[in-house]
Amino acid sequence: MNRRQFLASSAAIGLLPRQAIAGSSMYRLRAEEVTSQVLPAGDGTTRMLGFNGSMPGPELRMRRGERVTIDVENGLEEGTAVHWHGIRLENSMDGVPVLTQNIIDPGDTKTYSFVPPDAGTFWYHSHYISHEQVARGMMGPLIVEDDEPVDVDHDITAVLSDWLMERDGALIEEYADRHSVAHAGLLGTFARAFFSPSDVRVGDRIRLRLINAATNRIFPLAVTGATGRIVALDGMALPEPRAFDQIMMAPAQRVDLVLDVSGSVKLDMMSRQGPYELGTIEAEGMNAARQSAPIAALPSHAIPAAADPSKHLTLRMMGGAMGGRHGGDNIWAFNDVSDLQSAPFGAFKRGETAKITLVNDTSFPHGIHLHGHHFHELGEDGSSGDLRDTTLVFPNQSRDILCTFDNPGKWMLHCHMLSHAVGGMRTWVEVV
Ligand code: C2O
Ligand code: CU
Repeated sequence: MNRRQFLASSAAIGLLPRQAIAGSSMYRLRAEEVTSQVLPAGDGTTRMLGFNGSMPGPELRMRRGERVTIDVENGLEEGTAVHWHGIRLENSMDGVPVLTQNIIDPGDTKTYSFVPPDAGTFWYHSHYISHEQVARGMMGPLIVEDDEPVDVDHDITAVLSDWLMERDGALIEEYADRHSVAHAGLLGTFARAFFSPSDVRVGDRIRLRLINAATNRIFPLAVTGATGRIVALDGMALPEPRAFDQIMMAPAQRVDLVLDVSGSVKLDMMSRQGPYELGTIEAEGMNAARQSAPIAALPSHAIPAAADPSKHLTLRMMGGAMGGRHGGDNIWAFNDVSDLQSAPFGAFKRGETAKITLVNDTSFPHGIHLHGHHFHELGEDGSSGDLRDTTLVFPNQSRDILCTFDNPGKWMLHCHMLSHAVGGMRTWVEVV
């Protein structure tokens, strides 16, 4: 069997379960084994992990500024923990075993409770042996609704991922193969988008919330059948909607689009072998009262403009195959240190602003994620750019970020290529 052909062969339309009630403040997520139709309908099903019977897990919708309570019941035969990616929440609710909580043992339930401060597109996923549990399906979308609904005809979520599976849909249970850990990370043989249900017409204006839930795959995306603008990155509104051609998404990143639909909306992953269809939102019928106003910016987020830094740190990515410089005692490292140590990479006083230079001294791209905060990407001239929680740095490049560490606690800082994280590319910072 030729994996590449498999990856390049088929696509499917799938619907995300929207089990949750919009704006509800109490949820129950049961981590459990599920059977999911990942391959196109009629092809084999996949025994995997998920939440509440489905993979991706149900879309959680909540209101900005309102406390939400989520009971996570562990119906697995192994421990787990759930991380609410991108939410600037209290440290004790961050879902990181050892650093912020104990593992949820099989049969146990942990109650997470937090007040989401930002409206936008987020997601949740396992943060325990996550290179394996997320690859097996433990993830789902988390949407924090705007105070005033945005003026679109449909609000659609698209969860993108890839899975390492046989042609019959069976997962290939191989999660820490050293070769892939030392290269780009474990990549799937089949990729697709799961969309939330909608009945889109030609002429509609839609919001499309893209979430890259893949463990290691960077998605270069093309959208056809609609034109529009990027309105948010990693849950944070852009001050001005931005035109786009291809969209590059590192694992864990989110991109919100507002699009005017001119036909069925197709999402393709671009590759050297040509476009690979991830999924299509079929447009049926016609909206005679289409919106003609220019696409407006979303209401702005609450994060202040970056202050001048009082500290400058460097985080050097090291290791891997193909000539990366080595350090540390695992396959990957930051600053000659692999994995979580007892001392943090950085210690900050609450409210302190630091500049961190992320240097990629390896032969692979890395998507670096900081928990509990968003940071500004800086341009080469030092200008303040996009606010993100995960930033993609290509080989032999570097990027400065500016972060105001205003959220007290112990926060992970790691590569979100989860094969690289398990291979050592993770550290933490402390804010006191
Ligand atoms: Cu999305 Cu440390 O995680
Ligand atoms: Cu990496």
